[in-house]
Amino acid sequence: MQIISEPREMQRLCASWRCGRETIGFVPTMGALHAGHLELARRAKRENQRMITSIFVNPAQFGPREDLERYPQPFERDTQQLADLGCDAVFAPTKDTMYGAADFLHGTWVDVTPFDEMWEGVTRPGHLRGVATIVTKLFNICSPTRAYFGEKDFQQLRVVESLVRDLNFGVKIVPCETVREPDGLAMSSRNAYLSPEERKSATVIFRAMKAGKALAQSGETSVAKIGAAMDEVFAQEPALQQQYVTIVDAETLTPLRELDGQSARILVAAHLGKTRLIDNLAL
Ligand code: PAJ
Repeated sequence: MQIISEPREMQRLCASWRCGRETIGFVPTMGALHAGHLELARRAKRENQRMITSIFVNPAQFGPREDLERYPQPFERDTQQLADLGCDAVFAPTKDTMYGAADFLHGTWVDVTPFDEMWEGVTRPGHLRGVATIVTKLFNICSPTRAYFGEKDFQQLRVVESLVRDLNFGVKIVPCETVREPDGLAMSSRNAYLSPEERKSATVIFRAMKAGKALAQSGETSVAKIGAAMDEVFAQEPALQQQYVTIVDAETLTPLRELDGQSARILVAAHLGKTRLIDNLAL
């Protein structure tokens, strides 16, 4: 497995594979890999002749008071796990190669409206622009045939799909189901921040979403009533502070009042102490 930090070198390698008519499956990550990431990588390996990943903690998608400085970076462990899965190359650039050193600053940004004005876009200003910009750069460097994204970051997935459609990228976006711990907590690199006590409280997110889903499956169509049922479960864990809990159209992410057969999604963002968690579930 090659580990490459220079964009041009990665670009040349991927271009040579594409010229040889090999398909490339790409899994962009920020590292601190867990079973969710590895599932994406396994699928990319299965469905393509070449499998590549990127590991880059993208400063542009972190707000000034967020966890950029303490984001875990177990690079050796990450690359070993990828090598074990048969990854062909890891692209791991530095901040300066991606955004320029102080004398030549990056000035081109990708905004994906209207998603940047809702949910994650509002609670983390600039976050989705940072994601859309780095994903654009990574697609141009890695020229993937297919790129694998987790449903765990549901709004990010919609942003990337819009980006590919609007800017005519020749890549197929493959959504992958959220991988969960046995107790339902969605796997996340940020779960490592949770104290044992917080880790227990965190399970309330999945329990609340499941209660909402069960009510919808029993025929309830009122979003207010489903929301109230979820709130009852959330009330069992006062330590968890909701940022938003909403039921939206799964395509447009606009809030729904009634379920009427359209595909709907519960979106949750909450804080446990200093740790911010997001999750979602199809209704
Ligand atoms: P990161 O949080 O490292 O996630 C990388 C990919 O793994 C994303 O597509 C994410 O949705 C997926 N993922 C995370 N947890 C998952 C889980 N429990 N089950 C399934 N998939 C999961 O998302 C990012 O990095 C960045 O924003 C990135 C796209 C790399 C741009 O910087």
